[in-house]
Amino acid sequence: MARRKIVAGNWKMNKTPTEAKALVAMLAPLVKSDDVDVVYCVPAIDIVPVVEAVKGTNVKVGAENISDKDSGAFTGEISGAMLKDAGVDYVIIGHSERRDYYKEDDAFLNRKVLKAFEYGLTPILCCGESLAQREAGVTIDWVRLQLKSDLIGVTAEQAASMVIAYEPIWAIGTGKVATTEQAQEVCHAIRELIAEIYDADTAEKIRIQYGGSVNGKSAPELFAQPDIDGGLIGGASLKEDFGKIVNYK
Ligand code: PGA
Repeated sequence: MARRKIVAGNWKMNKTPTEAKALVAMLAPLVKSDDVDVVYCVPAIDIVPVVEAVKGTNVKVGAENISDKDSGAFTGEISGAMLKDAGVDYVIIGHSERRDYYKEDDAFLNRKVLKAFEYGLTPILCCGESLAQREAGVTIDWVRLQLKSDLIGVTAEQAASMVIAYEPIWAIGTGKVATTEQAQEVCHAIRELIAEIYDADTAEKIRIQYGGSVNGKSAPELFAQPDIDGGLIGGASLKEDFGKIVNYK
C-alpha cells in the first residue's frame, strides 16, 4: 500500500496569535488536499487559536516541542497532556535548532519521543548532518546513530505510525536544497535502518520527510522519490507557496 504523503509547516518562532489566525485563513483555500496530510507545527502560544482556526478543514496541528516530564515544577515547559487536551496531533522532536541552540541530546530526545507516544501524539523526529559531517563522509553513520539513540524503547507499532524528518543542517533556511539524489539516498538509508531495527513492514509504513529550503519549485521532484513521503517546511510554510508544496502534483 502506498504511503500517504505528509507536508508539515514548521513555523518556528514566527507569528503572534493574531498573525497566526490570519495566516491560517490566507492558506485555507490553498492547502486543500484529499491525498496529502497537512500539518501546521506552531509556537506554543499559537496552538489554541490555530486549533480553533483550522476546525472543519483538512489541516492538523502540531507543536514544536514537548516536555519529557508529565507535570510539576518545570517552569516554562509544556506537557504532553496539555498539548493533547488543546487538540494537538503531532509534535516536532529533535529539530537541529533545538539540538544546537538548546543542547538537546539524544538521551533527552529519546525521552521526549516516548513521552509523545504516551500522550497519543505523533512525533515528527528530526535528524540530519552538518556540512562538515557531509564533507567528511559520515552523513549516514551520523543519522543512523541519531535515530538509533532516539528510538530506544519505541515499539514497531509506534514506529510505523511516526514521521521522521531528514533535514541536512546546511540546507535549513539557507536556500540551498539538497539534490534529489542526496535527499533520496539518506531517506532510503533511514528506511533500511528502520527495517534493521524493526522489520520490513514497519519500514514500509513509516513516513520519512525531507526538510531544508523546500519550496513550490523543488517539492515535485523531491516528493516523487520512492523514499520521500513529503516535507518539513520552514520558511515557505509562512507564505502562499506552502499551498503549492501541498499540491505539488
Ligand atoms: P527551511 O526550514 O524550509 O526554512 O529550510 C526547514 C526546517 O527547519 O524544518
